[in-house]
Amino acid sequence: MSDQPWQIRPERANDAPRVEHLNAISFGPGRYAKSAYRLREGVDPVPGLSFVAVDGEDILGSIRFWPVAIGMERSLLLGPLAVKPELRSRGIGIALMKHAVETARAEGYPSIILIGDEPYYVRVGFARLAPGRVRFPGPVDQARVLGLSLAQHNVMLTLKGEVRRPHVDHPVCACGADVAR
Ligand SMILES: CC(C)(COP(=O)(O)OP(=O)(O)OC[C@H]1O[C@@H](n2cnc3c(N)ncnc32)[C@H](O)[C@@H]1OP(=O)(O)O)[C@@H](O)C(=O)NCCC(=O)NCCS
Repeated sequence: MSDQPWQIRPERANDAPRVEHLNAISFGPGRYAKSAYRLREGVDPVPGLSFVAVDGEDILGSIRFWPVAIGMERSLLLGPLAVKPELRSRGIGIALMKHAVETARAEGYPSIILIGDEPYYVRVGFARLAPGRVRFPGPVDQARVLGLSLAQHNVMLTLKGEVRRPHVDHPVCACGADVAR
């Protein structure tokens, strides 16, 4: 049995206001101007890949993923990932990521990308992508564009193109075969 005082469980509908609050205090109002947020506008997070770390009713941390298409390939955009400021450096962030990454792998997603600090995400296997291969809408520091292959072959070697929002209302496009402008 785990000796941690917290557990990870899927996010529920009524968690949303508290998760939004956690993201607001973790990222501030400037978060809406970031490139990653443009890919979330008008699109719901991937069902089944949003998790919270909880201690009873208290939400300590949260992770969500958004569906994206890169060129003609489907992928996942990791984030937001946030942990309550007073509970950081206790392993909650890494535990949330490991749990979500293994769920995504089991569900057959080929890859995950994100914009973030390499020294942190390398702990769960992310690596910097070759500059210019995966292009986000808006300005992005290339050194912060990271990826993780979930497939048996290294998808990151071939992943290339613009990162876009898939049409979530179109079953074919939801798999990344077509993308929104
Ligand atoms: C980033 C965040 C989710 C980490 O959560 P956490 O629960 O504190 O992370 P963990 O306890 O699993 O890991 C902590 C370790 O990672 C390191 N770490 C945390 N953020 C880091 C970063 N940005 N770069 C490098 N290392 C980092 C810590 O120093 C700590 O190192 P240690 O184990 O050697 O002491 C949390 O700090 C947070 O919510 N930050 C604000 C929102 C944010 O920046 N999210 C990530 C977007 S890129």
